[in-house]
Amino acid sequence: MIDRKSFDSTEELHDKVAADVTKILRNALLESGQSLIALSGGSSPFPIYEKLSRTGLGWEKVSIIPADDRIVEEDSELSNIAALRRVFGDTGATISPLFETAGNEAQAAVEARGIADKLKFPLDMIWLGMGSDGHFASVFPGPDYDTAFKPPAQAKAVRVRPDPLPPEAPVSRITLSVPCISNARHIIMVISGHEKRAVLDRAITDGESSGLPVARFFAQLDRNITIYEGP
Ligand code: 6PG
Repeated sequence: MIDRKSFDSTEELHDKVAADVTKILRNALLESGQSLIALSGGSSPFPIYEKLSRTGLGWEKVSIIPADDRIVEEDSELSNIAALRRVFGDTGATISPLFETAGNEAQAAVEARGIADKLKFPLDMIWLGMGSDGHFASVFPGPDYDTAFKPPAQAKAVRVRPDPLPPEAPVSRITLSVPCISNARHIIMVISGHEKRAVLDRAITDGESSGLPVARFFAQLDRNITIYEGP
C-alpha cells in the first residue's frame, strides 16, 4: 500500500518526517535494543537529518548505512557516506560505508557484498528519495537494472552503472538491492516539488508501463511505503 502524505510547507514536512522517524527508531530500540537503518544521499534530506541528529534517542545503539553510494573516494563532494558522517558523526551512531575501495568499481561491488553480509538485516527503516527520472536509491536504468531488482544469490548490495549517467553525480554506484530495500520494516520516501509529484503520479497511475524505476519498485512491493510530499 502506498500512503501519500502531503505538506504545504517545508517546515511541516521536516517536522513530521523527523517525528515519525524518531518514533520508528525509538520503537526499534525498545523492541530489540538496537537498530539498523539506511539513509539516502542526494541533498534534500540533509536538513531533516540535521534535525534528527539533534534528537536524543540512544544513538549509540543505532547503525546507519547509506541506502546507496556513488563509487568515489570519501573526500569527494559526491560521497554519501561522507555526508552522513558529517551530520551523524557526533551522535555516537555507528556509521558504516557500503565499500572501502573507490578506485575499482568491481572491487567496490565485491566489498559491498561482503560488508552487507555482515549486517543484521532486515533494516528497521529505509529512507528513500526519488529523482525526477524516477530513480530511487541508485536503481537506475542501464546494464545492471535487472540485477538490482533480481540480484544473484540474493545479494544485499549491487553495483549499478546508470545509463544515461545522472548529471548531478555522473558516476557508477553501489545500491542496496531492491529485495533488500523491500524487506525493510519501514519504508519511507521523501520528495518535494511539483515535478517529482508529477513523476510519482505517473508511476502510480501508469504503473510499470511508465518505465519508471520507482513504478517497477512499487509493483513488486508487498508492504507499506509512506511517501512524504513537500511543496
Ligand atoms: C543518491 C541518492 C538518490 C537520491 C535522489 C533524490 O545518492 O543520488 O540516494 O536516490 O535520493 O537522487 O535526491 P534529492 O532528494 O536530493 O533530490
